Amino acid sequence: MPTKPSTTVKSGASFVKSSASTDKSGAPLVVKTTTASVAELAKDTSQSAPLTDKKSKSITSLRGFKDVLPDEQGYWDKIESVVKSVASAYGFGKIRLPIAEATPLFERGVGKETDIVGKEMFTFLDQGNTRMTLRPEGTAPAVRAYIEHGMLNQPQPVKLWYLEQFFRHERPQAGRYRQFWQAGFEVIGSNDPVLDAQLIVLGVGIFKQLGIEVSTQLNSIGMPAERRQYITDLTKYFKSHSKKLGELDLKRLAKNPLRILDSKEPAVVELKKDAPNIISYLDPESKAHFMKVIEYLDAAEIQYNLDSSLVRGLDYYTRTVFEFMVPNPIEGEAPITLGGGGRYDGLVELLGGRANTPGVGLAIGIERLILAVKQAKSIPASELEQPVDVFFCQLGEAARRQGLKIFEKLRASGLNLGEAFSKGSLKAQLETADKLRSPFALILGQKEVLDGTIILRDMDAGAQEILDVEKIQSVVTKRLHDLKTRSAK
Ligand code: HAM
Repeated sequence: MPTKPSTTVKSGASFVKSSASTDKSGAPLVVKTTTASVAELAKDTSQSAPLTDKKSKSITSLRGFKDVLPDEQGYWDKIESVVKSVASAYGFGKIRLPIAEATPLFERGVGKETDIVGKEMFTFLDQGNTRMTLRPEGTAPAVRAYIEHGMLNQPQPVKLWYLEQFFRHERPQAGRYRQFWQAGFEVIGSNDPVLDAQLIVLGVGIFKQLGIEVSTQLNSIGMPAERRQYITDLTKYFKSHSKKLGELDLKRLAKNPLRILDSKEPAVVELKKDAPNIISYLDPESKAHFMKVIEYLDAAEIQYNLDSSLVRGLDYYTRTVFEFMVPNPIEGEAPITLGGGGRYDGLVELLGGRANTPGVGLAIGIERLILAVKQAKSIPASELEQPVDVFFCQLGEAARRQGLKIFEKLRASGLNLGEAFSKGSLKAQLETADKLRSPFALILGQKEVLDGTIILRDMDAGAQEILDVEKIQSVVTKRLHDLKTRSAK
């Protein structure tokens, strides 16, 4: 049994030494806890080196876990504001979900045979021997919350949205991390196909607002009973061609045959053309549901591609499934999936809620969306920066002291201010103002402090005027208004 490096966890007053492990089948990482002495821990340099050891290597972030630095923040803010405004336009209420859940929630909800549950979950035994998992997705937790808080007593459907981090122990690469963010939308308590279509419209709308054109893949995978016969026939078909299958596809065939349809192997791509088609296994009700979704999408003028090999990697889906894709910037590489979702009419019951409570949802991967936005250069730089209305410059100790107070007063009035109080030279301060694209600068020097004045500089024209310090806020507000009116013309 291969063992991962140990980690140290401080637990109350005593230390606990943990070691994460996987079994050969790639079963979830389980952390076993045993108490260890402090002296023993001091020797353990595999993950967290003791701070006192000056010679030890610096500690870096974990593989697949990344920092989001200030220069990328503009993308996050922009995306968050678009997602938030769309969520509110469609009447979704925000839900903040716990970062960890009881492991059976995902085993039961997402499915033991899925890649996510089978090999990608960060699962721990806590100090009280509870099996808990860092959430790998948000649908099962949202449904758990719906059941736990009796939301079925509210007007249906209940619409929830979240913007949260998720955790999957995948092999990291561009756009694939072990900690990543999703914006998710869940509509629980109605089986109306208009909701499936509306969620697709909502998703496409978010991408559009960010200047991204996606292609929407659409399929129906029916209800479990319809799928059973399909899976039997699909397995039979691929088994009859097993000589052409690689190791991974043979494994898929044995464990979760639907996943073979995800294979990008040229031989499988070829075989898929003659494989049984899920659509012909749908019963009249599922067929009618799918036709309605298509009609609504046509009415909303949304383009989509019908893709009968789209099955998605989570077991809770019923009927409608969809994915949003963009081309891969690397030639010859598979398109990138920015988001996906579908209907999950059996999930509420599966997780212990009332039978016949349907649901449908979608989630968008934020890191992948940012990569796509950067690639398309679809957000103007001005929208990615914090706007600065006026930059405050001070010269000399008296001005710096007085300036702290004036700065605070202006900030409280609602102006977006820039400053560099730690800088002494006016040139350096004006350069910073320029970099921040501030249209105006205020300059307070020794003389101005004595006179009760301040200089207002138009950064573009270079023109300067002397103002009464008491009047700066109203003058700056007026100048900003004039500037906006001029640039709107
Ligand atoms: P999913 O397809 O597993 O669906 O994930 C949705 C999106 O999250 C993906 O399309 C991708 O953009 C992003 N994503 C997934 N894994 C990673 C990763 N390791 N690194 C970066 N981004 C990633 C779900 O999770 C479902 N809960 C969606 C849903 C909501 N279905 C119904 N409601």
